[in-house]
Formats: sequence, structure tokens, C-alpha cells
Amino acid sequence: MASSVCVVGAGVIGLTTATLLQDALPAGSSVTLVADKFTTDTTSDGAAGIYRPGKYFQGPSEQMTKQWLEVSYKHYKKILNSEDATEAGVRAVSGYLFSNKNPEICQSPLMKDIIDEYRECTQNELDLHGQKYGIFCNTLVVECRRMQPFLMDRFKRNCGVVRKQHVNSLEELADEGCFDLVCNCSGLGANVLANDRNVTPIRGQVFKVRAPWIKNFYYYENETYIIPGMDLITLGGTRQFDNDNLEVSTWDASGIWQSCVQVMPSLKDAEVVRQWVGLRPYRPSVRVEKELMDFGGGKTLKVVHNYGHGGYGVMSAPGSSMYAVSLICDFLQHHQYHRAKL
Ligand SMILES: Cc1cc2nc3c(=O)[nH]c(=O)nc-3n(C[C@H](O)[C@H](O)[C@H](O)COP(=O)(O)OP(=O)(O)OC[C@H]3O[C@@H](n4cnc5c(N)ncnc54)[C@H](O)[C@@H]3O)c2cc1C
Ligand SMILES: *[C@@H]1O[C@H](CO)[C@@H](O)[C@H](O)[C@H]1NC(C)=O
Ligand SMILES: *[C@@H]1O[C@H](CO)[C@@H](O)[C@H](O)[C@H]1NC(C)=O
Repeated sequence: MASSVCVVGAGVIGLTTATLLQDALPAGSSVTLVADKFTTDTTSDGAAGIYRPGKYFQGPSEQMTKQWLEVSYKHYKKILNSEDATEAGVRAVSGYLFSNKNPEICQSPLMKDIIDEYRECTQNELDLHGQKYGIFCNTLVVECRRMQPFLMDRFKRNCGVVRKQHVNSLEELADEGCFDLVCNCSGLGANVLANDRNVTPIRGQVFKVRAPWIKNFYYYENETYIIPGMDLITLGGTRQFDNDNLEVSTWDASGIWQSCVQVMPSLKDAEVVRQWVGLRPYRPSVRVEKELMDFGGGKTLKVVHNYGHGGYGVMSAPGSSMYAVSLICDFLQHHQYHRAKL
């Protein structure tokens, strides 16, 4: 049966969920996207977008985490091999994960068996970069400055409705009475919206520079990284827990610049296009689950949450959103079953 679903949040998670929902819902259904910030105003916009799950990336269970990561890689790989790759901002990238302290640090067990190439560095490679331990791998970058408009375009072409609005509470949406279900993809906004104090900002500051001669990515144990996107290279970074300052710090900037130029001296000639700060919506484990919200007086609202992706929301968006969509379809049917019985 046709349904009407509202997705709150237009970051990479909300947009991915909304477009996948359009494909999954029966004909005649409608999807409305509600958000107070779009495209360049979202956290997703400035993310480097590299597919490199950190050790602490966690879905609801270990098995589901693995599944999300596999599904996400396949999804992006399919776009990479299609004619949409450039417009969608998906490219292949090879590069290095390095450590001077400990061989464990540069390992990435979560992507080892998923990506196309993953091997220990040769002694030559290590000597060249002055590092003790390292992994070379071939992975993907998804640039949200392209991916978000690409998804928005698809969403609108499939008759999606877009509304710019700040949502003060989910009850507001329940009061409208026109949605069968709301999907909560509000990122850090869930802190307030979902009253979820497990969601904490991890502040990240970066440079976006033009340096077309740099082809590989480089990732060091101390949060220094160089990640090529479609046109620009992201230089990072910081990882400041429970810090919600969105101002660019000159202190952080000089630290990032020094470290990056130290590992890659040619960067001193790079043109700085912009500096940016984003707040990663961290949660010990990503929350994708159903909830029947009860506002009292017989007023309820079906909600499926999809937030708390921390520093890995771009790379895990397809997997986590496909799972959210399956919960949504299930929840909607459940509803109709009860109605039919009444
Ligand atoms: C420096 C940095 C580098 C990063 N690098 C990577 C990387 O290499 N790879 C990777 O996978 N990830 C990376 N990330 C993480 C990634 O950016 C996030 O995980 C991802 O953007 C989260 O997406 P989201 O859609 O949940 O949140 P957002 O993009 O923040 O979107 C949230 C949406 O919800 C809306 N919203 C919230 N509250 C309300 C409300 N009350 N009413 C209406 N609308 C509301 C907002 O307007 C917005 O549209 C990085 C992050 C930073 C800061
Ligand atoms: C998101 O979920 C949280 C936690 O339940 C809730 O407080 C908040 O209102 C929700 N926000 C939206 C926009 O759905
Ligand atoms: C980070 O690591 C790189 C490579 O080992 C090094 O050159 C750089 O100085 C380090 N930066 C900081 C701030 O420790």
C-alpha cells in the first residue's frame, strides 16, 4: 500500500535514505525531505569522503557493521563504473596508511577483505616516506560537494518533495498528521531532536587545496592526512572530542599545514582554496532502529532513526541507509496489518 514518509536531514545520510526509499516504496507513495540546512551548509559537504573505516566504527552489531561496509563499497563501486561517476563525485584512489609506533595502528581489518587491493608496504615504500609500518591500498573517495547535488537531483526527478524548515520536535511532525512514518537522519541535530546525549561532536578542521600533482592519499597515525578528491585535496586534520566550535582556528591551521608540508614538501606551493570546520556526529554505535514515539493522548508516531555516523558517514551511508529502508518498509507493513485487523 502507498505511504507517505518524511525524512528529516539533508546530509549524505538523509539524501541517501530518501532516494533509496523512493526505489523501495510501492507506487503512489511519497517521500518528503525536511531540513534546515542543505548542501554546502551541512557537515557532509566538507568531508574528505574516503572509504577507510576506523577500527571503532560500529553499527548495531558486528555482523551488521560488516554488511553495511560491504554494501556501501559495492554501491559506490557501481557508481564508479557507471557514466555518473564524475557528476556523483566518486573516484578511485590508492594510497598509504602509515605508523611509526606500531604495526597495528595502520591496519584496517574492517576493509581488508572488501576493497580491491590491500597489502603491507615494501621496505622501499617505508624508507621513501620515513615510516616504520604501512599499508598500501586501493580504495574510493566520495566527494559530497558533488554527491549531495547528484542525489538531490535524483530525488526531485522522482517527485520527491523538499521543505526547508527547522524541526523543533518530532511531535511537530506528528501533529501535521500526514506522515505514516518519519526517518530521523538529523546527524548531530539528534542530540537535541532525539534527546540523545550519546551523540557528541568530534571537531575536524581541514584545508582544501589545489595540488593536482598529488595522486595518492596519505594517512598518518597522528591525524595528519592528505586525501585527493575530484578537484581539490583535503589536508587534515583535527579530532577534538566534545568540541563544537565551528570557527576556523589559526592555531589548528598552522599545525595541520606544518605536518602536511613536512610529509609532502611540494604542498608548500599548493593554492589554498578554503578552510573548513565540521563536527562529526559521533555516537559509540550508529543508531539505526525503529521507535514508536508516544506523545500521550493517543498521539503516536512511527520513527526510524539513522544517525550517529561519526567520522564515517559518507563511506557507510548506502549500507546504513539500506538497512534503515528495510526497517521502514517493515514498520509500515506492520502498521497496515494492525489497521486491517481493526
Ligand atoms: C573534517 C571531517 C572529515 C571527514 N572525513 C570523512 C571521510 O573521509 N569519510 C567519511 O565517511 N566521513 C567523513 N567525515 C564524517 C562525515 O562528514 C559525517 O559522518 C557525515 O557527514 C554525517 O552525515 P549526516 O547526514 O548524518 O549529517 P549532516 O551532514 O550534518 O546532515 C544533518 C542534516 O540534518 C538536518 N537537521 C539536523 N537537525 C535538524 C532539525 N532540528 N530540523 C531540521 N533539520 C535538521 C541538517 O540541516 C542537515 O541537513 C568527516 C567529517 C569531518 C568533520
Ligand atoms: C531524532 O531522534 C531523536 C531521538 O529520539 C528525537 O529526540 C528527535 O526529535 C528526532 N529528530 C527528528 C528531526 O526526527
Ligand atoms: C605527524 O606525523 C608526521 C609523519 O610521521 C610528522 O611528519 C608530523 O610532524 C607529525 N605531526 C605532529 C603534529 O605530530
